[in-house]
Amino acid sequence: MSYENIIVRSENNVAIINLNRPKSLNALNAAMVAELGKAFDEIAADPQVKAVVITGEKNFAAGADITDMVELNPEEAFAFAFSPVFNRIANCPKPVIAAIEGFALGGAMELALCCDIRIAAAGAKMGFPEINLGIFPGAGGTQRLPRLIGPSKAKKLIFTGSIVKGEEALSLGLVDILAENPSEEATKLAGELAGKASVALKLAKECINVSADVDLNTGIAYEATEWARLFATADQKEGMRAFIEKRKASFVGK
Ligand code: HXC
Repeated sequence: MSYENIIVRSENNVAIINLNRPKSLNALNAAMVAELGKAFDEIAADPQVKAVVITGEKNFAAGADITDMVELNPEEAFAFAFSPVFNRIANCPKPVIAAIEGFALGGAMELALCCDIRIAAAGAKMGFPEINLGIFPGAGGTQRLPRLIGPSKAKKLIFTGSIVKGEEALSLGLVDILAENPSEEATKLAGELAGKASVALKLAKECINVSADVDLNTGIAYEATEWARLFATADQKEGMRAFIEKRKASFVGK
């Protein structure tokens, strides 16, 4: 499918999504977010795609499109919310990596928080400047950020609206890896993940995501059930037999 605000291509079992509204630094409008939702539905259903990279040329994105939001009333603002699509991205059954260059601000950083791993350039500028617009992050930021970096660090970033660069973002835990070329690095990592046992990967992601929502014992019970299910997969038999036979496992994703 072709889109107007994003570019989606696939190579070596990896889908690469480029946010593509360069004139407004890739600011996310409702159409772009809807397209992201459609792209992720396709990706979830496509057995050829095993991992995903989200990126943007020069800039990841400068946040939600302010010109689209300025005159909204509360009901319209509620409808403008990105969370229904962002939640689908966070729960995508395949690993999703954000590759961040340039600006990743506000709603764009919230999109990056929905990804499983964030790779940024040292010069990338990341933050939640919404407070300077008289709002706060409303696409999962107040929930995902404290879970990722802790509540007081999240409060500092959200209350001040300050922008951090790569090294500081890394030390805060806001990003996981710094790279000279984040897209290249993310595509390489996604390619590596594409060769893994995909059912195990999908269920591991599900268990880790569930850990944010439930108490420890519920999470451990959930994990036990999901873990046991893997013993019905060809990849579990292949992975363990390959180890015993001292050869490289060849996974089929079943
Ligand atoms: C609409 C935007 C935009 C945005 C940049 N542009 N960010 N348009 N929405 N979020 C446009 C500018 O208006 C300008 O258009 C062009 O992109 C280039 O931007 P400049 O400002 O000229 O570039 P620069 O001086 O380099 O400054 C870059 C910047 C600044 C620091 C990133 O653009 C900026 O502060 N942008 C807003 C960042 C922000 O507040 N994001 C959070 C949004 S709220 P023209 O036509 O003049 O060339 C949000 C809420 C999420 O994300 C919740 C959603 C549900």
